[in-house]
Amino acid sequence: MADGQTEPVLRLEGVSRRFGGLVAVDGVSLTLGPRRRLAVIGPNGAGKTTLFRLIAGDVPPSQGRIFLFGREVTRLPAHRRARLGLSRTFQVSNLFAGLSVLDNVRLAAQAGQPGRWRRLGPVRPGDRVGLAAMEALERAGIAARAGDRVAELSHGEQRQLEVALALATSPKLLLLDEPAAGLSAGERSRLRELLGSLPDSLPLLLIEHDMTLALSLADEVLCLHNGRPIALGPPDRVRGDPTVQAVYLGRTVDA
Ligand SMILES: Nc1ncnc2c1ncn2[C@@H]1O[C@H](COP(=O)(O)OP(=O)(O)OP(=O)(O)O)[C@@H](O)[C@H]1O
Ligand SMILES: [Mg+2]
Repeated sequence: MADGQTEPVLRLEGVSRRFGGLVAVDGVSLTLGPRRRLAVIGPNGAGKTTLFRLIAGDVPPSQGRIFLFGREVTRLPAHRRARLGLSRTFQVSNLFAGLSVLDNVRLAAQAGQPGRWRRLGPVRPGDRVGLAAMEALERAGIAARAGDRVAELSHGEQRQLEVALALATSPKLLLLDEPAAGLSAGERSRLRELLGSLPDSLPLLLIEHDMTLALSLADEVLCLHNGRPIALGPPDRVRGDPTVQAVYLGRTVDA
C-alpha cells in the first residue's frame, strides 16, 4: 500500500439492517481513513456485531452502501472481501485444536496464496509461508508456543493466536469483535498492549463493549444505541458525551 494514500479504507453510507421487525443497525455512515483506528462501542444489543457482520460480508444490508479500499462491496460475499485485504479475527472454534499453533497460522498464511490447498509439510528453510507465520506469532507475542497444540493454550493465548492468524493474511484492514471478551484482567492488559503495538500502517476497526479498552486503543469512536449512531468523534469527546454516559449507565435515551 502506498504510504501517501488518502483514499478511505472503509466507507459506510446510510447502512441499515433489519431482522424482521427489528432494526439492528439503523442508518450508520462512517469513513475510516488509512492509518486510523476506529472503535465501535455501545451497550448490549446496540448492533455492534451486526455492523461487524455487515462490513465483513456475512449479511447484506437492507439499505445503504459499503465501500472497501475505494471499491463498492455492498453485495460482495465475505471471501471476496477477504481477498481484497479485509481480515477479521477468527473464532477459536474454527481452529484445528489438534494441530500446532504454528501450523494453524501457516494454514491461515497459505490461505491467501496461490497454492492454498497444498498439504502442509514440515517447515523448510526459506519457506515464505512458514516465515510469515512465525513473524505473525512473534508480533502477537506467542512465538514461544509455536510448537504446542492449540488445545493447550490458555484463553488469553488463544486470543493472541486469533490476532496472529489475522496478521498472517497480510491484511489491509483488521476487524476485531470484542477481542477481550472473557479474558482476565491480566490477559486483557496484555491484549491491549499487543493491539496497541500493531503497526500504525494497519487500520483497525474494533468492536468493543468495554469502553475503557476501546477508548485507550482508538483514535476515533462510534457509539451505537438501538442500532443508531449517537456519537462519533475522538475518544475524549465521546467519553464526555452526556448521551453516551446515560446509555452506559443504563438510562433511557431519546436519541
Ligand atoms: N440473525 C439475527 N436474527 C434476528 N435478530 C438478530 C440477529 N442478529 C442480531 N439480532 C438482533 O439485533 C440486535 C443487535 O444485536 P447485535 O448482536 O448486533 O448487538 P451487539 O451490540 O453486538 O450486542 P452485544 O454487546 O450483546 O454483543 C439485537 O436485538 C439482536 O437480538
Ligand atoms: Mg456483539
